[in-house]
Amino acid sequence: MTIEAFAPAKINLTLHVTGQRADGYHLLDSLVVFADVGDRIRFVPAPSKRIDVSGPFSVGVPTDDRNLIWRAADLAGVTGHFSLEKNLPHGAGIGGGSSDAAAVLRLLGAEAHALALGADVPVCLLDVPQRMRGIGEDVTPVGAVPALDMVLVNPGVHVPTPEVFARLRQKENAGMDARLGWPDVAAFKDWLAAQRNDLQTPAASGNPAIPAALSALKGAEIVRMSGSGATCFGIYPDAQTAEVAADRIAQKQPRWWVRAVRTVGWS
Ligand code: C5P
Repeated sequence: MTIEAFAPAKINLTLHVTGQRADGYHLLDSLVVFADVGDRIRFVPAPSKRIDVSGPFSVGVPTDDRNLIWRAADLAGVTGHFSLEKNLPHGAGIGGGSSDAAAVLRLLGAEAHALALGADVPVCLLDVPQRMRGIGEDVTPVGAVPALDMVLVNPGVHVPTPEVFARLRQKENAGMDARLGWPDVAAFKDWLAAQRNDLQTPAASGNPAIPAALSALKGAEIVRMSGSGATCFGIYPDAQTAEVAADRIAQKQPRWWVRAVRTVGWS
């Protein structure tokens, strides 16, 4: 028996930091969507536990209890062989290990353990657009978010999340506009353009590759960083325009990871 799961790239369309708890964790207000690119996981139940990694980003992925897949299996009390096809850059602000962990919890029916594996794991349990609050544990689906054609650009720098949070000077910022309902795609994009990723400035300072990625996406309708970086996204009017932009960026920057994707939404 083989079970397969898809672990899609997670994109923070917005990431507002609204405060900091006494334990140091930050309070967030984020609109999260998922793309049609991601890692693939296969699982075969067996008496022992093993992780094999393949794919373009397999180098450096731990195959022991440092891998969230291993810890998800432990929490679920399950053993077996996992094959991970690592298509997403890691430490990149687009889910990576969190999405892998969520996919494994889902396939093992152990979703209740999500928060124990990281603040980003609960939102990755579902692939629909969601609003994420608290430190990541408070997630609600948001029905009206349209499917978006976008280009993801990762300039190949690894940005440690705790460092980015530590560099954020102003911890108490306004949350998202609470209405989260839009009559059409244009109204959604107008709203989105006025929101923020509060981690973008602290991530970019000291990482010139991030402003470089953002400026490579110039010409898109909305350009922003996802998560704590370094992946940035540009939203385009349609899939063809996104493909053309992705080709142009990839040609100029052959070492960057560049993908035209479509996010899961209602159209
Ligand atoms: O929970 P996770 O392992 O994804 O978080 C990595 C680090 O990011 C935490 O150790 C913490 O420093 C920071 N973080 C935070 N506030 C959050 C999520 C993460 O300060 N809501």
